[in-house]
Amino acid sequence: MAVELKGRRVSRTVDAAADDTILQLALKHDVDWGFNCTRGTCARCRCRIDSGMERLNAPTEAELDRLEPEELENGFRLACQAAVKAEGTIIAVWKPYF
Ligand code: FES
Repeated sequence: MAVELKGRRVSRTVDAAADDTILQLALKHDVDWGFNCTRGTCARCRCRIDSGMERLNAPTEAELDRLEPEELENGFRLACQAAVKAEGTIIAVWKPYF
């Protein structure tokens, strides 16, 4: 499964295994992706999924708590919660609030 990651300055297309989170992939492949808690509460890892949302898990409880419904509708996820589930291309762009 190919995941295209766009961090602050580094962009990279990487291979993913099932259940890898976007944040795990970014860290493993040296993509400069902000994060703090890794538990779905700080939202520092927020990203926008530009392609392949259907290939990720459904939003977790933490995401439903932390993100506004409009953000979810507009393709925003928390990278520490969004995990790869199916074959195909996924494009994730780091989009923190600040
Ligand atoms: S790292 Fe804190 S919400 Fe993802």
